[in-house]
Amino acid sequence: MLEDGLGRRVEYLRLSVTDRCDLRCSYCMPPGFKGYEEPGNWLTFDEIERLVAVLAGLGVKRIRMTGGEPLLRRNVPELAQRLARLPGVEDLSLSTNGTRLKQHAAALRAAGVTRLNVSLDSLDPERVHKITGRDVLPQILAGLEAARAQSFQVIKINMVVLPEVSDADIDAMVEYCGAQGFVLRFIEMMPVGDTGRRAGYVDLRPVRERLRSRFGLVDGMVPGGGPARYLVSPDGRHRLGFITPISQHFCETCNRVRLSVEGMLYLCLGQEDTVDFRELLRSGCDDEQIAARFRATLQVKPARHEFRERPERVVRFMSSTGG
Ligand code: GTP
Ligand code: 5AD
Ligand code: SF4
Repeated sequence: MLEDGLGRRVEYLRLSVTDRCDLRCSYCMPPGFKGYEEPGNWLTFDEIERLVAVLAGLGVKRIRMTGGEPLLRRNVPELAQRLARLPGVEDLSLSTNGTRLKQHAAALRAAGVTRLNVSLDSLDPERVHKITGRDVLPQILAGLEAARAQSFQVIKINMVVLPEVSDADIDAMVEYCGAQGFVLRFIEMMPVGDTGRRAGYVDLRPVRERLRSRFGLVDGMVPGGGPARYLVSPDGRHRLGFITPISQHFCETCNRVRLSVEGMLYLCLGQEDTVDFRELLRSGCDDEQIAARFRATLQVKPARHEFRERPERVVRFMSSTGG
């Protein structure tokens, strides 16, 4: 069992397989962003597999592949297959913007990915264009349709709630997800990078109370390892999750760390602390040394984010760790 310095059990690794993205969501990456990592710094699939094998041996059970947009990296289903079969990996999932899901949904499922989270903030094509910088709603909806035809355990839609969103926009998302069998999660904006800081934050508590009474929702459970709390309708049609890092943070129960594509382990989404695993992996180390560094690293995992107290703290963009 792996514990951090505060006694929290760490069993969830968020693995960014690329920092590149084909969209420019206004709250995430700035237009004209040029700060991508050099390919020579990307961990190779062999390096990723080795690292995950060691961590899974220590007690990391859940792996989520993220980006940037993970499906921009070539052969991600092959990586998925290599990770899914490692002893100790019980849950392999992927967070994607959906633009390439149509091409890859079947291969991902066949490779052993059981859960998908797809970002979609609106069903209005013009709003999606405005938020993402591209006219991609039809492509994302086609990707979702393709994913739905595969037997994923669950497909979740991530909706970051922006200040200008209306009750009608929210209700349209609730109806669409209910009809498609998707879980819909509402996310509070985090001040990660100046993009995230500028985007504006909406407290989700009133949104949750309105939806609770409108749809007669009660507390419910949905498969997953993240911080969302769920409400469901008694008929099972609506499953809504709320991710509230600002209004009701969940750091006391934090169970995860993040690995960037260039092999830096980020200890908290709301802090800049990192430990370099690429340098270690490329130094000819043995597995014991990797395990020892990971254990030591967990001892200094920060207690919590300080998004309220120090909103300027995180200067990197969300795309570097995929949320
Ligand atoms: P599952 O519950 O396993 O389905 O996944 P998840 O919700 O952890 O992953 P996803 O990539 O879909 O992330 C959804 C939102 O939760 C994103 O906005 C993430 O940035 C946010 N999130 C995930 N983990 C953390 C965390 O440790 N801290 C904070 N503050 N936000 C997180
Ligand atoms: N605050 C909250 N969520 C964000 N995401 C990207 N940037 C932010 C932010 N500043 C979300 C994406 C994606 C998930 C992995 O993180 O919409 O669904
Ligand atoms: Fe964990 Fe940091 Fe997220 Fe809090 S903000 S839940 S400590 S990663």
